Amino acid sequence: MPVKTLNIESALERVKELPTLPDVVFKVNEVVNDKNTSSADLERVISRDQAMAAKVLKLVNSAFYGLPRKVDTLSLAIPLLGFSTVRNLVMSISILDLTTMGSFDVKQFWQHAFGTSITARAIAIADNLPDAETHSLAGLLHDIGKVLMMQYFPKEYQAVLDLMEANGFNFLQAEKKLFSTNHCLIGSAVADKWGFPDNIKAAIEHHHNPKSAYDLKDYVAVTASANILTQPDEDKFFVMKGFDECVEACESFHPIRVGTYRMVLGDLEKQMQLFESFLDRMEVFRKPSELVTQEVSRKKGDSGIWTLPGK
Ligand SMILES: [Fe+2]
Ligand SMILES: [Fe+2]
Repeated sequence: MPVKTLNIESALERVKELPTLPDVVFKVNEVVNDKNTSSADLERVISRDQAMAAKVLKLVNSAFYGLPRKVDTLSLAIPLLGFSTVRNLVMSISILDLTTMGSFDVKQFWQHAFGTSITARAIAIADNLPDAETHSLAGLLHDIGKVLMMQYFPKEYQAVLDLMEANGFNFLQAEKKLFSTNHCLIGSAVADKWGFPDNIKAAIEHHHNPKSAYDLKDYVAVTASANILTQPDEDKFFVMKGFDECVEACESFHPIRVGTYRMVLGDLEKQMQLFESFLDRMEVFRKPSELVTQEVSRKKGDSGIWTLPGK
């Protein structure tokens, strides 16, 4: 039983210690959200950060391992992967660089995060919601509070996992039993620290209880459904259980239609294979390299999309 050291005050103290996300994350996100940009624009912003460019290429080649062709330039890699995938990689690499997730199952964490991102994007596209890329990013980041817990409260995080195993609780139920805060509230504080827009912050804060959100409900509901659909279920995701189960599980969040369900399954199947090999290679990046502490001044655009000064 852990000491009850995890409350929102102690978490906020730790959030302050997190370094700022590197510049390249904001620039990549800006390019991905702008419909008028090309692969060349994305290549240009990533190439300005040479360490990041090298890591992206390393990961890309892990995905194409065994194929006769090695992808050795970003200009070849970006069209093959697509903008969202590249953005998710840059974001994930940066988070891994700035944090230590200790001895926890990093792969399982990112598997669920990537799955939720792919699913949220597929739901948004299938249901004609605007801003599919923001839904995708909200999916990727929805459990970011857990990263802070793994880094700064490893004993408490482990206690949650133990209680889940012993009592069959889900993560939130175990947190409720042990602490006076949870990964959603901690994640929301991390979102503030890292300057995420309000729609992503809302999705992080309310993804287990969408009814508690006052606004930006689409972002919250889609993330909540995507989170359910990508819960680990043995070696698969919950979504593989079948259409009827998914309709029922998502009923009070973002409802799932048959066309949406098929699109989610198709996208997950296509993209998770690619991510599998990334995830294996990501182990390489577990140790924090140089911490990027450079302050990035930024403001939020009208749509809640990050923009950098002067852009
Ligand atoms: Fe969660
Ligand atoms: Fe989750």
